[in-house]
Parts: sequence; structure tokens; C-alpha cells
Amino acid sequence: MRNLEDLILPHIMDIAEYVPGKPVKEVQRELGLDIEFHKLASNENTIGVSPKALEAIKAELENLFWYPEHSCYYAKQALSEKLGFPPNQISMGNGAVEIIADLGHVLLGPGDESIMASPSFMWYRIAAEITNSKLISIEHPDFIHDLPKMAEAVNENTKIVWICNPNNPTGTMLTADEVDDFMKIVDDRCLVVFDEAYNQYVERDDYPDTLNYVRERRNVMVLRTFAKILGLAGLRIGYGIGPKLLVSALEKVRPTFSVNSLAQVAIVAGLKDDEFIRKTIERTWKEKRYYYSECDRLGMKYLPTEANFILINTGIDSKKVFDNLKMKGILVRPGWIFNAPAWVRVTISSHDENEKFFAAIEEALKELR
Ligand SMILES: Cc1ncc(COP(=O)(O)O)c(C=O)c1O
Repeated sequence: MRNLEDLILPHIMDIAEYVPGKPVKEVQRELGLDIEFHKLASNENTIGVSPKALEAIKAELENLFWYPEHSCYYAKQALSEKLGFPPNQISMGNGAVEIIADLGHVLLGPGDESIMASPSFMWYRIAAEITNSKLISIEHPDFIHDLPKMAEAVNENTKIVWICNPNNPTGTMLTADEVDDFMKIVDDRCLVVFDEAYNQYVERDDYPDTLNYVRERRNVMVLRTFAKILGLAGLRIGYGIGPKLLVSALEKVRPTFSVNSLAQVAIVAGLKDDEFIRKTIERTWKEKRYYYSECDRLGMKYLPTEANFILINTGIDSKKVFDNLKMKGILVRPGWIFNAPAWVRVTISSHDENEKFFAAIEEALKELR
């Protein structure tokens, strides 16, 4: 008999499991607390689901006995019309996360390297780990992407540089000029992946138009998701725009039917839901100012954000803050997970939920300081 430990690949055994923010029901079950919970931990769109997407989902329900269209024909067509790229330059995935993992499978292997900023989205690390390749993680004291250092780290083994813009978990943004300087130095020596999961929340006007690099046939892929902006986090659908050859390579490793039929019809309808998208953006911009003023009032440092979440320095061990807030019914993302021990990342939600967060954190600070 062989032990399972000997069958599972050693580099997979070594991976630290990704711990996502837990759904409210799971926390309620674990704590056995009969109180109202407010989940501000995973950057979801708490306005709800785009009404246009929801209508399309309901109409599609009775067709669920069919497998979905593997090619995502209509979804790609809708994106193609919106963004001006042909369908063969569009990858679809079961969330943008699937495309991140598939980029790992397509480009990385033992001896290869990828580069990411730290802290940034953890799936870039996992893409390196599942492919048994080397990850170079570049920190900066201000939690920003140190693009000059990241460019300097590119060598003949580098296959991917991950740029998360705006960055999760910091909400910080790289400007068009900064990215352009970086692209000049990297000079297509590897693939640059711009993860723009939060692009539609950006308020500044110097945000880069990275699709231009794809138009210029550079080694670039741009990733985006419908999870946040259309309120479709539970449905799992994201996309990438990139070179034809890369899109077809990604298609080879994508599991059959990975993008479900409800998700496909939802985005075709949701892409036309300008009203919902506008409401989502306006609320976020308004409420982030409320965060700034409340953080100032409570003497907590924060990073100005271009996303729908904000990173706040509580000055206290984030494990303690997380536990304390949890017992008050507020769920946030504790910074210890991404090496920012005194920080918490909070989703910018409705004014009512944001007020509840500040009432809870004010009490927590008194209890823990
Ligand atoms: C930076 C970033 N990229 C990608 C994703 C994944 O998006 P999806 O829900 O489409 O898998 C997230 C989700 O939190 C994210 O924050």
C-alpha cells in the first residue's frame, strides 16, 4: 500500500491553503450567535445583483438541464462589441481567478519565475505554487507596487509579472506614466498581466488604458471581473483580453463548460446595465469620503483608495480587531493574512453598513487600545 502523502506532489502538499472571506451563514453557524452580521470582507457589491442581469438569469433557469456553451459565444460577442476586440482575443473564466490559475498552467513550470508586489492578490502566489515555479515578491514600505524594482527583477527566467491595478488589498493605483515607464523597461521580455478587477471604481483620471498595449500587440493580458461591478460574485465569471495565441493556449487548459450558462446570459444583459453600474460607482465614491472622514475622526491611518474597499491601520493586532468586530457582527479582512499585521481591509458598502462598521470599530478601539 502507498501512503497518499507519497502520491500527492510534494509542491502541492507544501501550499498554504488560501482562506477566503467566509459567507455570513458560515460564520453564524460557527459562532452560534443569533445577531445580524454585516460582511465587509470580500469586496462584494452590496447594492445587490444588476437588475438586468437578474432578469436574464431568471429567464435562463429552465434551460439549466443543458450544458452551457463552452465557447461563451454570446458573452464574447457582447464583450467584443463593448471593447472592440475580436472574440479570439477574449478569454472567459469561472471568475478571473480561473484565468489566473490557467495563466500559471500555460506559462509557468519548474525553473520559471513570476513577479508580484506584496501585499497583492494572493492568487498570483498560488499560481506559482501550483506550478512548482519560483515567485519573486517585491515589497514597498508604503504598500505600493515598486515598479522600478519589479522591472529590475525581470530576467531570462521570468515568464509573468502580475500588476494589480487598483491593487487588492491596498486600493492603491498606478498611473499611466508609471506603467508606461515600466513597460518600456520590461520591453516584452515576459508577459505582463494587468489585473483590473476594480477598474470601474477608479476615480482618478490618470489611470492607464492598458488595453492599448494589447492593441499594440505587446505581451500583455488584461483581466477583469463581473463579480463586483455587476454584483455577480456568486455566479463566477471573469474575462481576459490578450494576444490570440495566449487566448487559444488558455482555452486548452480550461475545463470544459467552466463558465456556467447563467453567468453567460447575466453578463450579456448586465453589460447594458449602465444605470446599475453608475449607481454602484457613485455610491462607492461618496461613501469612501465618509470612510476618510471617520478614519480621521478616530485617528486611524488609511490608504486613499481607487477601489470599493479601503485598507485601514487600526494600530492594533488585526487578529484581535477581527475577532472583536466579528463578535459585534462585523466581518472584515484582517491584514495579518497579507503581512500587514495592524491593518484591516473593509468593503465600502451602504451608508448604513458603513456607519455600523464605524460604531463597532470605535468601540473595539476603546476595548483593545
Ligand atoms: C485583484 C483581484 N483579481 C481577481 C479577483 C477574482 O475575481 P473573480 O471573482 O472574478 O474570480 C479578485 C477577487 O477578489 C481580485 O481582488
